[in-house]
Amino acid sequence: MDQVMISDLHRHVGETVTIRGWLHGRRSSGKIQFIQVRDGSGIVQGVLMKKTVDEALFKRCDALPQESSLSVKGTVRAEARAPGGHELSLTEIEIHQEADRDYPIAPKEHSIGFLMEHRHLWLRSRKPHATLRIRATIVKAVRDFFDSHGFLLIDAPIFTPAACEGTTTLFEVQYFDEKAYLTQSGQLYMEAAAMAHGRVYCFGPAFRAEKSKTRRHLTEFWMVEPEMAYGELEDVMQLAEGLLTFIVERVLESRREDLKVLERDLSKLEAVRPPFPRISYSDAVERIKVRRAELLRSPDEEQRKLAEGCLTEWGGDFGAPDETLLSGQYDRPVLVHRYPAAVKAFYMKRDPADERLALCVDVLAPEGYGEIIGGGQRADSLEFLESRIAEHGLPREAFQWYLDLRKYGSVPHSGFGLGIERTVAWICGAEHLRECIPFPRMLYKIYP
Ligand code: 4AD
Ligand code: MG
Repeated sequence: MDQVMISDLHRHVGETVTIRGWLHGRRSSGKIQFIQVRDGSGIVQGVLMKKTVDEALFKRCDALPQESSLSVKGTVRAEARAPGGHELSLTEIEIHQEADRDYPIAPKEHSIGFLMEHRHLWLRSRKPHATLRIRATIVKAVRDFFDSHGFLLIDAPIFTPAACEGTTTLFEVQYFDEKAYLTQSGQLYMEAAAMAHGRVYCFGPAFRAEKSKTRRHLTEFWMVEPEMAYGELEDVMQLAEGLLTFIVERVLESRREDLKVLERDLSKLEAVRPPFPRISYSDAVERIKVRRAELLRSPDEEQRKLAEGCLTEWGGDFGAPDETLLSGQYDRPVLVHRYPAAVKAFYMKRDPADERLALCVDVLAPEGYGEIIGGGQRADSLEFLESRIAEHGLPREAFQWYLDLRKYGSVPHSGFGLGIERTVAWICGAEHLRECIPFPRMLYKIYP
């Protein structure tokens, strides 16, 4: 078959090739038609002269609706002015299906609600197309990073008997005659796997019944979770920094065209170089307080609103406004470590230097994208973990297997979770997480 992908046309200059795709757009001037075809890998313009094909076909092409599926055959010419740098002199056209004329996504502005209702078609448009290509590159970079740093891929289950990240966001499902939950995180299973393989990671979907509507929350998202036996908080911070640097470099290396389609400011990504700033939760709170006071006096109403949403004293978890205020002070991701244990999950190890604190770290992305990584060192003492499970009101039976890990060769260990959509949103400069996953699931939204 002489079918060629549009992205490969540069290797076929002077040859006659076939492109199979969809009609992206067209223009005509009586005797000549300019037919833009997209095939998923790119868009190319074909030039069709009236005399080349029979009259009926020429006329049909001249009225062909956008998104009709077709194959075109033609000779490849280098053409510096054409998008993609090539043009086809068409010799044959075969129309597979003539699309309905009412393709809902016109070049005009649509509301995001409308576009999301038509997500199955919107995927074809340039920006969603670029975003999902970048997403694929990020996922591949994540895998390449761990595979080449001695981590073994271990898949975690989706049906689980217990909560990992708090009982308020569980999706319950009937599991024969018991209740089960869709996984919130593969972490606990990675801890078991790390005791078998040393360094492991899982990559899969996570589910949380997030009842708030924000631009940073999905009910179904993808997460990568590395776990290291004998790893401590410091190791996790280094690993997070290495991973994020690697991802950004890879995207800059291989997806510049797509970033351009998204009108992403590349200088913001180019600034992402190690070392990343680190700050303790306690110091961060002091910074937020100072900045908050400044912004409360700002003439800009939006800034004042942001400041009003920030915390005013030590002890609370950070909300979106705190994260925005704090990360706004840096040009690269910032590592915030040692939060109050009271606002974090049950499995975290306490800081021996200050028992009020957990040995944990959140990584906040620049430009107000919020937390992209959460993790830290795990409690390794059986007695301590038992008391935490009781304190959190979690069912002990469901965690028996997890407690076994502390009975049989417990070691210091640590890991983190990186949210894929939050990472994609930051790198692409997207407004909302829903644009960063092919078919988003959100509060009351499950169509298409
Ligand atoms: O901070 P989280 O809740 O941490 C955990 O789940 C740990 N068990 C991970 C670990 O240590 N193995 O979630 C980790 C990351 C967040 O930083 C965020 O990027 C993403 O997962 N995330 C979400 N992304 C989209 N929608 C949501 N509702 C998310 N909740 C968390
Ligand atoms: Mg978190």
